[in-house]
Amino acid sequence: MCGIVGFAGHHQAAPILLDGLSKLEYRGYDSAGLAVRDGENPAEVVKAVGRLKNLAEKTDEGKALPGCFGIGHTRWATHGEPSRTNAHPHVSGNCTGSGSGKVESEVVGVHNGIIENYKELKEKLERHGYVFYSETDTEVVVKLVDYYYKKYIHTPIDAIAKTMVRVRGSYALELMFNDHPGEIWVARKDSPMIIGTADNETYVASDVPAILKYTRSVYYIDNLQCAKITPGEVHFYDLNGDEVTLEPTEIKWDAEAAEKGGYEHFMIKEIYDQPKAVGDTLTSVIHDGKIDLSEVGLSDDELKEISSVTMVACGSAWHVGMALQYVIEDLTRVPVRVELASEFRYRNPILDPKQLVIVISQSGETADTLEALRLAKKHGIKTLAVVNVVGSSIAREADNVFYTLAGPEIAVATTKAYSAQLAALYTFAVQLGFAKGTFAQSDYERYISELNTIPAKISKILEDKERLQWFASKFAHKHDVFFIGRGIDYAVSLEGSLKMKEISYIHSEAYAAGELKHGTISLIEDGTLVIGVLTQNELYEKTVSNMVECKSRGAYLCGLATYGKYEVEDHCNFVTYVPTIDTHFAASLAVVPLQLLGYYIAVARGLDVDKPRNLAKSVTVE
Ligand code: AGP
Repeated sequence: MCGIVGFAGHHQAAPILLDGLSKLEYRGYDSAGLAVRDGENPAEVVKAVGRLKNLAEKTDEGKALPGCFGIGHTRWATHGEPSRTNAHPHVSGNCTGSGSGKVESEVVGVHNGIIENYKELKEKLERHGYVFYSETDTEVVVKLVDYYYKKYIHTPIDAIAKTMVRVRGSYALELMFNDHPGEIWVARKDSPMIIGTADNETYVASDVPAILKYTRSVYYIDNLQCAKITPGEVHFYDLNGDEVTLEPTEIKWDAEAAEKGGYEHFMIKEIYDQPKAVGDTLTSVIHDGKIDLSEVGLSDDELKEISSVTMVACGSAWHVGMALQYVIEDLTRVPVRVELASEFRYRNPILDPKQLVIVISQSGETADTLEALRLAKKHGIKTLAVVNVVGSSIAREADNVFYTLAGPEIAVATTKAYSAQLAALYTFAVQLGFAKGTFAQSDYERYISELNTIPAKISKILEDKERLQWFASKFAHKHDVFFIGRGIDYAVSLEGSLKMKEISYIHSEAYAAGELKHGTISLIEDGTLVIGVLTQNELYEKTVSNMVECKSRGAYLCGLATYGKYEVEDHCNFVTYVPTIDTHFAASLAVVPLQLLGYYIAVARGLDVDKPRNLAKSVTVE
C-alpha cells in the first residue's frame, strides 16, 4: 500500500520526510516523491521511480530541497503503471510529468487509497478546462480540490469539504495550497493516517514507525475529518467545516521494537519475537490461573449468550480463523463459520442476532475486513476485533477489541501477529467453553496450563533452526511444493503454503490430505516436495497414508510431527519435530518450522524477504 508522510516545523523538512518514508517501505511501493515549500515560495516537487534511495540521491538526501514544510509519498500502483509521471505528489496545474521543479500550481498533494469515481470526476474537470498529465486517480482528486477552491470562497477547508462530499472511495490525503504557505491540510476516509506533535513541530504519516523517533503523542484523525497542520498545532474539522476536538493518544511501542535489532531481516526478527508476542498476549488476559476477558468487553454472561461465531479475515488472518474453527467447535460445541472478508461482504450473509462476528486483522486497516465489520454492525450483530495496531480503523469501529501484543510487525509476511492472534483466540475459545459449561474445571485449568507452555515450546523449536536451514537450501530451487494435513493440520498447511508463496515466489498448494486423491494428486511427480503436517493424533495415520500415496508417485516427503512420533521416519525422507502440546493448540508450534522453511528458502533464493514483490503489508484497497 502507499505510504504518506508530512512535516510542518522549524527543521528542514526533506530529510525528515525521507526518513519517514524509509520506515514505510515495508508497505510496498514502486516510486516515491516529495513536495517541499520554503517560506512563501511555491512547492518544489521531486519524484523518482524504484527504491527510495533513488529519490534520496536525486535530492542529495533532502539537502537540495530547502524548506520546513513538506509532504512525501511512496506509491504502490493502483491506477497507472509505475512511472515518474504517475508518482506522487500530484499538482492541480499542468506539468511536464517529469514532476520535478517549482510548481506554480494552486494545489499539490499526495494520497493513499482509491478514488472509485475518478473517471466521472475526470470528465467533469476536463469539461471545465483541466488537462491531465497522469493516469492516476490522485491527480483527479488534487484537481478537484483546486476546482472547488477556485469556484467557492477560496478557503482550503471549503474546497476539501466539498471534495470529500463528492468523491467515493478511500483516501489519506495531504495537500498544500500555494496561497497558504506554512500550512498543510489533510483529509481521511478509510485509509490510515496519524498526526503527531512534539517540540512545536507536527508530523503526519500512514503508520506509527514513520514518526516514532520524533513523537509518541499522536492523533487518530477520524473518517470524513480534515485538519489544518501548522508547526506544533493541529485543528480538526468535520464535513460542515466546524472545528472538532480530538484527544492525543500515547504510543506504547518502543523504537527498538520497530528496528531490526541485529537480525538480517525483520521477518526473522519477528519469528524470534514470537515467544514474547504470544506470552504478552496470553498474560494480558490470563491472571491467577483464570482467563479474564473483561478488558476485551466480554463477560461470561455475554459469552453464554453467543449462539454461533463467524470469523472473517483475509490471508494469514483467515488461516487463524480456519485453525480456531476446529478449536472453538471442539471446546464449546458452538457452531463456527470462517469467511474470507472479500467474499463475506458481498454475499448478503445470513446473520443470527445472537451470533458473534469476529474480525481478525494485524493492521486493523484491511479494506475487505473493515467493510465486513461494517456489514456485521449494520445487521446489528455484536462484533469482536482481534487487532495488533492500537487505534486502527477496525479497532475503533468494532464493539469489542482484543489487542494482540505482538508489537510493530514490519515484515510483509506476518509471523508473530499470526501467532499472537492464535493465542488470543485460544483464550476466547477456552473461556467460551468454560462459560457454557462444556468442560470441567479441571479441563479449564489444564487448558490454561497448556497455553502457558506455548512461548517456551516455540523457543525450543527456534533452537533447532539449523536443520531447517539445511533442508531449505536443498529445496530452494523447487517450483512446486505441497502442504497437506487434516483438521488443524490442514489450517496450518494453509499458512505454511502462503509463507512459501509470498516470500520465495515458489508455487505452492495447501490441501486437506483426504482431498488430494480427488484430482490434485495427478500433479505429484518424481521429486515433488510434499510436506505433511502431523500434530493431530487422531488423524495421524490417515495423513501418513495420504503422504505414502504421494511417495508412491515419486514425491519427496517431509514430515512435521510431535516428539515421540518417530515411526514417521519410516515413511519420510526428512522429519522435523515440535514439542507435544494439547492438540487444540498445536498450530502455534507446527507453524514455526514452516515459517522458518519459507524464510530460509527465500534467503537462499536471494529475494527481498521483508518486502516481497507485488505485496503490501496492509491491503487498504479492495
Ligand atoms: C500474510 O503473510 C500476508 N501478508 C497477508 O495475507 C495478510 O495476512 C493479509 O493481508 C491480512 O492482513 P491484516 O491481518 O493486516 O488484515
